[in-house]
Amino acid sequence: MITALWLTDLHLDFVDEETWERLIADCRRHDPECILLTGDIATSRDARSWLRRLSDTFPRPIYFVLGNHDYYQSSILETEQMMDVLCENRADRLHRLDGRVIRLTPTMGLVGCGGWGDGRAGAGVNSNVDLSDFEVIEDLSRSRDKAALFKTLARLGDRAADLLKPVLKQALAEFPHVIVLTHVPPFMQAAWHQGRPSDSDFAPHFTCIATGQVLLDAARRHRNKRITVFCGHTHSPGFHTPIANLEVHTGGADYGRPCVNGLIQLEPNFSVSIPRPGVAFP
Ligand SMILES: [Fe+2]
Ligand SMILES: [Fe+2]
Repeated sequence: MITALWLTDLHLDFVDEETWERLIADCRRHDPECILLTGDIATSRDARSWLRRLSDTFPRPIYFVLGNHDYYQSSILETEQMMDVLCENRADRLHRLDGRVIRLTPTMGLVGCGGWGDGRAGAGVNSNVDLSDFEVIEDLSRSRDKAALFKTLARLGDRAADLLKPVLKQALAEFPHVIVLTHVPPFMQAAWHQGRPSDSDFAPHFTCIATGQVLLDAARRHRNKRITVFCGHTHSPGFHTPIANLEVHTGGADYGRPCVNGLIQLEPNFSVSIPRPGVAFP
């Protein structure tokens, strides 16, 4: 049996030593081949330190994408360059997915991109939600007004989609089943919040419409293939199937209480089990 562990929104800058040890013990108990990590590891430089510590403590390949919190107190370029250096130094274990195809098994490929709440879903620019992101991520805090901010959010969503599109195409040409890691839910219906999709005001910041379009187009063009997406960001778990061959798992999270979000059996039969009590997934 080949298994992977799915972790999301660990926000490790909020955990004490005892909680960290408990998380690692949980990972060890499942003894997976690899870890799939869907962003919000910590914040910028802290995220780098925590990733390094995670790969030292739990020496399995870690495939990850970054979440919005991983860019806090920094810029997007600086954070990504810093992560790339870390991954180069740990090339055997740490893999940021943006722009590459990983062969998980002979029949399963893995791709990913962080994605962004691209401001397009729900109320769009009329949303009254004010996120910390707009103050503490340099690329966003530079926006002189709301119109400029939403233009930047849309550009970031498009950038994620541009990264995802070619690798997804490549992976679907090679594998019957492709796993996609992203941070921001790619559909409004997958942007779960307390058991239901986010309301119209939060939806622009909890959904990446641009990556959703790429996924839908690819799934429609490859009806005989399967795409399974894992994401986080909203901290509320849920499952959504936009069309028969495309499914989206959104992971739950609590600040200060990181946990294993899913045990994924890759072979011989694909299945996802969610160890959180009280949360049932198909
Ligand atoms: Fe988060
Ligand atoms: Fe997030």
